[in-house]
Amino acid sequence: MKVTLTAIKADVGSIGGHICPSERLLAVVEETVAQRGDGLIIDHELNYTGDDVAVLMTHDRGVDDESVHRLAWDAFLAGTEVAKDQGLYGAGQDILKDAFSGNTRGLGPAVAEMEFEERPNEPFLMFTADKTEPGAYNLPLYLSFADPMYNAGLILSPTGGKGYRFTIMDVDCIEGDRVVELLTPEDIYDLAALLRDNGRFVVESIHSRHDGEIAVSSCTTRLRNIAGKYVGKDDPIMLVRTQKSFPATGEILAPFEICHHVSGFMRGSHIGPLMPVKARSSVSFFDGPPVVSCLAFSVRNGVLTEPVDAFDHPYWDWVRRKASQKAHDVREQGFSGPAMLGIHDLEYVGISHRLDALDERFTMRAEGSDG
Ligand code: 13P
Ligand code: 13P
Ligand code: MG
Ligand code: MG
Repeated sequence: MKVTLTAIKADVGSIGGHICPSERLLAVVEETVAQRGDGLIIDHELNYTGDDVAVLMTHDRGVDDESVHRLAWDAFLAGTEVAKDQGLYGAGQDILKDAFSGNTRGLGPAVAEMEFEERPNEPFLMFTADKTEPGAYNLPLYLSFADPMYNAGLILSPTGGKGYRFTIMDVDCIEGDRVVELLTPEDIYDLAALLRDNGRFVVESIHSRHDGEIAVSSCTTRLRNIAGKYVGKDDPIMLVRTQKSFPATGEILAPFEICHHVSGFMRGSHIGPLMPVKARSSVSFFDGPPVVSCLAFSVRNGVLTEPVDAFDHPYWDWVRRKASQKAHDVREQGFSGPAMLGIHDLEYVGISHRLDALDERFTMRAEGSDG
């Protein structure tokens, strides 16, 4: 059958700062999706990563379906009410618009969605990250889908060897969806030139060149462009189908061992290593470090298996220690240089205000004078 996977994620409030949602908040989101989704969706699963709640839904209504998006929106609104009632921090943080207008895209929540004809075996992964931005997935996707050093499946598998079509969005553009398509392997230098800039160019989707099938759908929300000011980082969600003409599950997971530095650590204004964590993990050190979790599923006729926590394995304990060391190393230099984001990407205005005020105190020393 043709199935649609819709994954929508939002921060509607968290305990003790930006740590994690409350049990009551999660329960009301779950209850709303289960009750109102009856007859609309086939199956669903709830997860959270840091302070972000993710709802995965399966159905046969295609992408951008108004009723399915409204269901998630209503569930997040119900969660917001609980957050207010419990005094949670940032209640309704990602509910940036007052009214639902047919689709949650552009309203605040992050969306990853794909429709496809189910294969007889249909494995896929749902990634959810906190304290970072959609471009955090750029490097792992490049390495899994375009670099045989990280994924020898690209040369081992005749289907994977045909390469992939990347669709990349310029998320700085606010007039509309500005996208470009690049083909691997022939365009990899152009691809790298774009994907190095995680804040501006974001992988939106990847398709197989062997059969045209969709492998990846990733969110491209930029909250700042919706709200006009900082309201929290655009903590991203992504769906990845695996095996056969796509990379194997392990080839998708492997690049996450790098724990590459991403934006979004503390106040969305610092860089830090992306730590692969178990599902339902909170954040702690310096409101971080940035974290990513991954649930693995199989699906048949839209019915999901139980999720398997892909980063719950002894190997990733070692990786987490490495990420902690990297987080410590970058935090040792405080505000200095690359530890903090550049002035245009800072999520708070305090530094700009200081620089504006100091501007008047600067003087130009007369030529020839030694002060
Ligand atoms: P199996 O031989 O266990 O099916 O594994 C194939 C594969 O993709 C491993 O990476
Ligand atoms: P969130 O975007 O996860 O709410 O984090 C905001 C923040 O500034 C944490 O320091
Ligand atoms: Mg928050
Ligand atoms: Mg968050």
